[in-house]
Amino acid sequence: MIRKIYDWIDERVDITPIWRDIADHEVPEHVNPAHHFSAFVYCFGGLTFFVTVIQILSGMFLTMYYVPDIENAWNSVFYLQQEVAHGQIVRGMHHWGASVVIVMLFLHTLRVFFQGAYKKPRELNWVVGVLIFFVMLGLGLTGYLLPWDNKAYFATQVTIDIAESVPYIGDYLKTLLAGDPEIVGAQTLTRFFAIHVFFLPAALFGLLAAHFIMIRRQGISGPL
Ligand code: HEM
Repeated sequence: MIRKIYDWIDERVDITPIWRDIADHEVPEHVNPAHHFSAFVYCFGGLTFFVTVIQILSGMFLTMYYVPDIENAWNSVFYLQQEVAHGQIVRGMHHWGASVVIVMLFLHTLRVFFQGAYKKPRELNWVVGVLIFFVMLGLGLTGYLLPWDNKAYFATQVTIDIAESVPYIGDYLKTLLAGDPEIVGAQTLTRFFAIHVFFLPAALFGLLAAHFIMIRRQGISGPL
């Protein structure tokens, strides 16, 4: 039955080459931990991706309950945590995942750095990686404010102060992040929410696409 449906679709839109391209792609021996134990270091990019997918999925479910305004934000998180079925688990995954993904990202970057995998012809992918790193840190920073508790509020106050200390464009940055009046308030929360769920994820999708396309084109770097 499933075979028939597959064949029907394949005959019309030729989907076999799409998954064959991934399924038949050979992984070189030097990245296989079954052959060389030290090859486990190659897992960190994939693990970063895995946790990123968990963050996106759990985050999508959180937005079903989260309310991005200063009257309701904290209560909506409280309700999600106390009343909603499995809400505690979904929020917990997003909360802990936010830290785990940074650890994986850091280990992946260390692997690439210490193996010199950023050298020609992979310089551009390193640059894309650095941009990804900033986006991921930005996601952590903006997400931290959303529960709208005391810790979130005063941590963001520090963030805004740091932004203000940037030479020349500090004032502009402060207004851009905090809104007007330039204190952490109603506008800051909606801005951080928009940045957290729309702007940065959109940037991340584009950058990850570039990252993966380059990995496939250039292949994984050779053995040391
Ligand atoms: C969400 C973030 C990221 C994901 C999901 C990701 C994913 C991956 C994956 C799956 C690979 C294949 C090899 C491996 O797994 O080690 C890879 C390779 C690579 N990554 Fe990332 N990466 C991320 C961030 C970064 C960052 C922050 C940098 C550097 C600043 C970076 C630089 C590179 C380079 C240069 C390669 C090619 C390495 C080689 O050919 O040996 N990536 N990445």
